[in-house]
Amino acid sequence: MCGPVDVHDTFGRPLRNLRLSVTDRCNLRCAYCMPEEDYVWLPRADILDFEEIARIVDAFTDCGVERVRLTGGEPLLRRELPELVRLLAAKPALRETALTTNGILLAELAADLQAAGLTRVTVSLDTLRPATFRVLARRDGLERVIAGLQAARQVGFIGTKLDSVVLRGTNDDEIVSLLQFAREIDAELRFIEYMDVGGATQWSPTHVVPRAEILERVASAFGTPVPVAGDGSAPAERFLLPDGTTFGIIASTTRPFCGACDRGRLTADGRWLTCLYATHGRDLRGPLRAGATRAELAALIRGDWGARADRGAEERLAAHARGAFADREALRSNPHLEMHTRGG
Ligand code: GTP
Ligand code: 5AD
Ligand code: SF4
Repeated sequence: MCGPVDVHDTFGRPLRNLRLSVTDRCNLRCAYCMPEEDYVWLPRADILDFEEIARIVDAFTDCGVERVRLTGGEPLLRRELPELVRLLAAKPALRETALTTNGILLAELAADLQAAGLTRVTVSLDTLRPATFRVLARRDGLERVIAGLQAARQVGFIGTKLDSVVLRGTNDDEIVSLLQFAREIDAELRFIEYMDVGGATQWSPTHVVPRAEILERVASAFGTPVPVAGDGSAPAERFLLPDGTTFGIIASTTRPFCGACDRGRLTADGRWLTCLYATHGRDLRGPLRAGATRAELAALIRGDWGARADRGAEERLAAHARGAFADREALRSNPHLEMHTRGG
């Protein structure tokens, strides 16, 4: 096999990052992601096995993908996940195999994930108050998340990040304490604006705490944040505080970054999506199970990415009357619209 043949979309954006959802199941029910009572789950027989995932990833690396991030639902609910990490970490074409987790099962799995070759972990942490955790995630578990973070540190993970979605009236009074906590555990915190993605059926502009306001609140507690270089295409803008702490803001709602988006998503059942807000995606499981070769899969991926004109978050920003992206009925008839299905 020769090197990758890069592909650029209609705006010249390359394909470099793949968010790989390994399950649509979750052990929490975060209000910004899964606010409803019941869900339509993907059929088990449709879920790709590890060997199938690895074959699809090979095709993606042939198109320029260098980084994979395992997501869910909650990826640690996928049985034997370290085994998949081992398969992916062995691929020379991948510079990184990372994980975004809610942290509930991290204490149990951190050592195995590290041994398997996982590069980095990002843990969702929206609050440090058990009562707020219960309201937000509609389950208990804050102590387990904290224990997971400690375990990740103990087994030697570095570059750990924390993701906090800021919701007005729920956790926006914790901006300062979350940042202090992150500093104590050597993690980089990213504040995320509440997005009107599929699944966020209760989204309203009044609950969004915009980037500008987050920056003001940080500045009044810690001094003026100075912008610093980010990872280029990564969604977070990074800032440095006078005491040396860095943090990020992911401002998808008020300042979308579609122009630099080099990210594709693969759902656990093999649907390939070229945008967080895509309403359709290509089924790669069908061709894979029908015997498509690596080159044939890569040709499908290249064709879709080459035709890509997505800029979903920018279009949402331009919309006049802004409300939830998808209502409950739309999500019930098309679970692929759900944030927990398309990988957070
Ligand atoms: P690193 O910066 O490399 O750690 O990765 P990341 O920030 O892409 O990973 P993470 O899973 O932590 O993503 C953080 C959040 O960014 C997600 O939970 C989403 O809220 C948001 N995000 C990720 N991908 C996209 C995207 O394609 N579009 C938009 N608008 N937001 C995204
Ligand atoms: N707005 C912003 N971020 C969201 N996530 C899920 N739903 C939303 C939303 N409506 C992100 C959070 C979570 C990750 C898995 O997905 O960062 O931690
Ligand atoms: Fe929360 Fe992530 Fe589960 Fe969604 S997928 S409910 S954001 S833990």
